[in-house]
Amino acid sequence: MKLTIATLPGDGIGPEVIAEAVKVIQTVAVRFNHEVVINEYAIGGCAFDEYGAPLPQATIDGCLSSDAVLLGAVGAPKYDKNPRGLKPEDGLLGLRKALQVFANLRPIVVYDELIDASPLKADIVRGCDLLIVRELLGGLYFSTPRGFEGEGDRQRAFNTMSYSVAEIERIAHVAFKAAEKRRGLVASVDKANVLETSQLWRQTVDRVAQNYPHIKLEHILVDNCAMQLVREPRRFDVALTENMFGDILSDEAAVIAGSIGMLASASLGGTVGLYEPIHGSAPDIAGQGKANPLATIASVALMFRYSWQLEDEAAAIENAIKSVLASGLRTADLDSINAISTGMMGDAVCKAIASSELF
Ligand code: IPM
Ligand code: MG
Repeated sequence: MKLTIATLPGDGIGPEVIAEAVKVIQTVAVRFNHEVVINEYAIGGCAFDEYGAPLPQATIDGCLSSDAVLLGAVGAPKYDKNPRGLKPEDGLLGLRKALQVFANLRPIVVYDELIDASPLKADIVRGCDLLIVRELLGGLYFSTPRGFEGEGDRQRAFNTMSYSVAEIERIAHVAFKAAEKRRGLVASVDKANVLETSQLWRQTVDRVAQNYPHIKLEHILVDNCAMQLVREPRRFDVALTENMFGDILSDEAAVIAGSIGMLASASLGGTVGLYEPIHGSAPDIAGQGKANPLATIASVALMFRYSWQLEDEAAAIENAIKSVLASGLRTADLDSINAISTGMMGDAVCKAIASSELF
């Protein structure tokens, strides 16, 4: 197949982890006989520096004319004071919107080899496998009105949390369909004891659930969900949440997997899928070869699975990740004493893919 991919390295450790992911894409292309075309575009703070905008039009056009987009990370402290619209994060939010990717899938998988990397007890995390389905284009992140008004002590700031039935329905369907291929459980997360948006969310999810009679649905309040995620993570299969709750809960869930450097994501729903690690730009370790590229490499596996339905290619990448971990290789986030570099980890994954049996 001919696969056209837009890469958006972005800021901080973004370029380092994308470089390893690109090696992996090229290795898979050789192994499975695909032709890949990779075009790189600017996003985030580096795009602001070069073009005066965190999401230049050329980046949007390039992404929309690709099959899939692979993003590193955006953000750095020096842009904290940029006004809204010009922050690196606005580049990412604008891209999600431009691609119409309303469904963000964040799988939390615990590898047996990494059980001791989690600060949680081994008995709690062992065998845990859950999928966070986060609504990505609504809620507090996008609803209006928003902004600041007034001056001095009278200044106030406001955001709006709003959801329509249609927005809730489409993400609920994604969660139920995902559960059908998994253990058949959906936990819908809300704050229905306080928020109207959550009341509508709950009613709508209940209605959508009628189309999926074999799926077991529970509603869970977000504060309780935050506790249960670290108390008994194995009870979760698919967790369905709105945008902001999903942002917070997915960082929390990363401790189950041992490191946020392990977690991949796929953002779907438009014509072009967006794939990115869930970690940020980590400016404190940028440029030092300390970043874990496995979250981005695992995002490439999701890309093969969801953008092209190339399951063998996806499985080859995921098996390679397992085998390098089994052979004891660790980046600094997982083992500060015997760590290998970002580049060595990427090379090890490529070697494992190249030497893997064909399926
Ligand atoms: C994430 C990130 C983004 C978000 C930021 C960088 C805008 O935290 O993907 O979880 O809040 O969605
Ligand atoms: Mg986040």
